[in-house]
Amino acid sequence: MDNRPIGVMDSGIGGLTVVRSILELCPRESILYLGDTARNPYGEKADSWIMKCGEELKNFLIARGVKMVVVACNTITFHEPPLFYQDTVPVIGMSTDYSSAGAARKVGIFATPASIRTHAHKKALQSVWPDMETAEVPCEGLAHAIESGEGRAVLKNMLEEAVYQYDAGDIDMILFGCTHYPLIEDLFRELFPSAVFFDPGAVTAERASGILKTCHMEADGDGESHFCFTKKSEQESCLIKKFLHRKEKAEEIRIAGE
Ligand code: DGL
Repeated sequence: MDNRPIGVMDSGIGGLTVVRSILELCPRESILYLGDTARNPYGEKADSWIMKCGEELKNFLIARGVKMVVVACNTITFHEPPLFYQDTVPVIGMSTDYSSAGAARKVGIFATPASIRTHAHKKALQSVWPDMETAEVPCEGLAHAIESGEGRAVLKNMLEEAVYQYDAGDIDMILFGCTHYPLIEDLFRELFPSAVFFDPGAVTAERASGILKTCHMEADGDGESHFCFTKKSEQESCLIKKFLHRKEKAEEIRIAGE
């Protein structure tokens, strides 16, 4: 048994969607969450910048004594060299195991421009489903708009434009390639009422839980969590309450390098 928290990091609030999956699977675990809201969005920045910031977030969590780090951000996951994932505690990125996605004719891969330019989702998807057609949709500005609390009309418009521009109108499966996007799943469903949805966050949570079990590091506590952000607004505490159904308040912190 190990009651130290699981560290979960993202460029902002998106990683809360992965926290939800982790807590659904492992309700006795505690989470130490870190969202870099002061420097968000990451998905439109240079590769070297993303790597540097990713390292800083991970170091903050490890210095705070977490037992594992879950990189709940696709953009960071696909920009870090393999050494990033070898540390004093297990460090895992967003899962690209799409074997449970099921067959589809055409998958829309919705992700940040930085993730799309790595083609990581597409390569991983086609390694299991070679005949699947894909439309890669870099949603410029969408994560930041969600982060800034933009209204439904603005978000829907951004999404519609991306779908039109990247020829994704006829997709029958949506892959959430950015952890922010499940926060607006209802908008995706409005645009694609008959599509199937695949959220790698759930698979990532299963992987985290599997590692804890194998290493006998599961918690048997009350699951008390802590949510830190590099810049606080109303939005974070509100989401923790509404989306995660938790009482904890967001805390503003500073990290080295910020
Ligand atoms: N949530 C992040 C991801 O999964 C990125 C959002 C951002 O652009 O900062 O890629």
